[in-house]
Amino acid sequence: MTLFFFFNLLTLFFFTLPFHSLSLNATCPLNFTILTTLSGGGRPSSFDSTTRCQFIRQAFRLVQSDYLRRTTFFLPPLNSSDSCWQSFQSYVNSFEPTFNIRSFCGFETSFISQGCVNITTKSDFEALVTNSVLQDVNHNCNQSLENNSPCALCTTSVSTLPASGPSIGNLSDCTAYPSVYVAAFSNRFGPSDPGTAKCLFSLDFSSEGSSGGKKKVVIVVVSVVCVFVLFFVIVGFFGYWKLKRKRRGMGGNNTEMDLGSGLDSMDQSTTLIRFTIDDVKKSTKNFHRDNIIGRGGYGNVYRGVISDGSEVALKRFKNCSAAGDASFTHEVEVIASIRHVNLVALRGYCSATTKYEGYQRIIVTDLMKNGSLHDHLFGSMGIKLSWPTRQQIALGTARGLAYLHYGAQPSIIHRDIKASNILLDDRFEAKVADFGLAKFNPEGMTHMSTRVAGTMGYVAPEYALYGQLTERSDVFSFGVVLLELLSGRKALQTDNDGQPSALTDWAWSLVRTGRALDVVEDGMPEPGPQQVLEKYVLIAVLCSHPQLYARPTMDQVVKMMETADESVPSIPERPIPFVAGRLDIERTVSMSGSGQLSSPTGYQPYTLESDPHSSNSNSKEEGSSSPKILSTY
Ligand SMILES: *[C@@H]1O[C@H](CO)[C@@H](O)[C@H](O)[C@H]1NC(C)=O
Ligand SMILES: *[C@@H]1O[C@H](CO)[C@@H](O)[C@H](O)[C@H]1NC(C)=O
Ligand SMILES: *[C@@H]1O[C@H](CO)[C@@H](O)[C@H](O)[C@H]1NC(C)=O
Ligand SMILES: *[C@@H]1O[C@H](CO)[C@@H](O)[C@H](O)[C@H]1NC(C)=O
Ligand SMILES: *[C@@H]1O[C@H](CO)[C@@H](O)[C@H](O)[C@H]1NC(C)=O
Ligand SMILES: *[C@@H]1O[C@H](CO)[C@@H](O)[C@H](O)[C@H]1NC(C)=O
Repeated sequence: MTLFFFFNLLTLFFFTLPFHSLSLNATCPLNFTILTTLSGGGRPSSFDSTTRCQFIRQAFRLVQSDYLRRTTFFLPPLNSSDSCWQSFQSYVNSFEPTFNIRSFCGFETSFISQGCVNITTKSDFEALVTNSVLQDVNHNCNQSLENNSPCALCTTSVSTLPASGPSIGNLSDCTAYPSVYVAAFSNRFGPSDPGTAKCLFSLDFSSEGSSGGKKKVVIVVVSVVCVFVLFFVIVGFFGYWKLKRKRRGMGGNNTEMDLGSGLDSMDQSTTLIRFTIDDVKKSTKNFHRDNIIGRGGYGNVYRGVISDGSEVALKRFKNCSAAGDASFTHEVEVIASIRHVNLVALRGYCSATTKYEGYQRIIVTDLMKNGSLHDHLFGSMGIKLSWPTRQQIALGTARGLAYLHYGAQPSIIHRDIKASNILLDDRFEAKVADFGLAKFNPEGMTHMSTRVAGTMGYVAPEYALYGQLTERSDVFSFGVVLLELLSGRKALQTDNDGQPSALTDWAWSLVRTGRALDVVEDGMPEPGPQQVLEKYVLIAVLCSHPQLYARPTMDQVVKMMETADESVPSIPERPIPFVAGRLDIERTVSMSGSGQLSSPTGYQPYTLESDPHSSNSNSKEEGSSSPKILSTY
């Protein structure tokens, strides 16, 4: 009887307080409250009916990263599996009460405590990585990852970390460990920061309405509101900021930085996507040769269709390595920091490491249906561009460049403006492309560079000769492109004696003898009024003036082109060319009959061609015939 009573008591004890039976079920050491805090109690926007299981996996990795940060262990002990699933489930229940994680996604109970078998602690992971790689990652990821360019920089270096080894279960496998580690230790804000969550775990916690249809409306409304807010912010603060900057000198920089990063996150976060390698392969039919639309020293450009049905161009860098990511991240960084109708827009990027193909770095941009200006001027298209189209292209290119020089923060020097880098969309709107050589130019500094890069025929003489790089180098290249556009002739030609001759010199020789209109291509359809054509020729010659200070700024160029009564300043006489031989000078003098000196031959072609270091290996872009210079002086 006593025994029976005792037995009853015992059963009662076990049945009513099963959770307190500590020897069997340990409390969960993972902190799922982080997820609740991030999503602010609402339904996270990256949780929808098609991506639910993916969301669960990524959300777990975030929580795992926080646990790693606190304890240096990647996974909680096995005896806490049950209670961890309960905590996870109750977080999900707060916005989706009918969704059972484990049964829906097929996760076994033990998976929450199992992952990459050979790595269980922070030091296990670090043992697999060399110190320099780790330092590189710490350096690139120890900043706010809210915006695209720091995020791209970070994820690119994350993909150099090892992700190999067997794993158990599919909740957290070895491939996730680099991100989990980096969010825990490399990033100063840690995994619970919304920017880190978005960048390293692709988790967007911004809440939204529960129906899918609302999403689009929300995006549209947000964009419209952003545009208005931006407008007023810019108008309101620009004057104030300028004033403040003037007064305080360098002290005003903080305002600039804050404003800049604010703009970044607003207008980019809605569009830039990080593509997986599978997305890229699917869109390009596994890099099928039929999809190649361009080839160059950096790799190939492919045409592709992404999941939303739009056509894109995918630039795939070749010979990538763990260390050699600089050019890729640089280009993503530049192109992600800018947005303008006349600049090619970045859609996204892909940075992955695959078993068979190794490092994959791909930049995804909008596809330009009409190819490049080079194709239309010198290709086999047959149909000549009409004057109104040429004028639109000239103006668009000028506006794009003016934005790079004066609209972007910090300003950017493109360094490789040429006809094959001016792309044309389906309405022949010009889009400046290929930011592979672009340089950030804070505070309008003048760079003295020992490494000159660009394309022969387009490079400003002071840059080619002395490595002096300023915005005016782009103005020179723009002048050459404008001459090509007007004359239908290439930047570099060989004259009758087989000597290379520069288009700029030919145009100048016509202009200085009062025959500016002879520069314009014969038989151009719908030619405009003569004074407009002449004005464009003068602008082109002024822009491609060998002396830096004679060239206008891109802002002035846009103004001259847009405004009918804005006249072109008189063009200063050219100096005696550095490399011109006596014979050339004498010949010119006797030809022109005036006392003024000029040379029919060029500056840059001579010096660069005679340079034994110059290399053509970088010649790039669809059918460009101009050799590329990348030489060291
Ligand atoms: C641990 O708790 C879960 C959920 O309450 C329960 O289903 C399971 O039986 C418990 N495990 C043990 C070994 O008691
Ligand atoms: C759970 O397991 C861990 C390590 O495996 C152990 O240290 C801990 O004491 C266990 N907890 C309980 C309540 O049994
Ligand atoms: C869990 O995370 C939340 C939000 O980050 C924090 O406020 C709370 O103190 C954490 N709880 C524990 C037990 O660490
Ligand atoms: C996880 O693995 C189990 C089998 O081990 C499978 O049934 C389930 O579909 C997998 N879940 C996901 C989301 O891949
Ligand atoms: C990884 O773990 C497996 C199974 O535990 C073991 O056989 C293998 O030797 C380990 N590899 C390394 C590199 O530690
Ligand atoms: C990240 O930066 C912070 C502040 O500059 C510094 O305290 C921290 O040690 C850095 N972390 C790493 C991993 O470099």
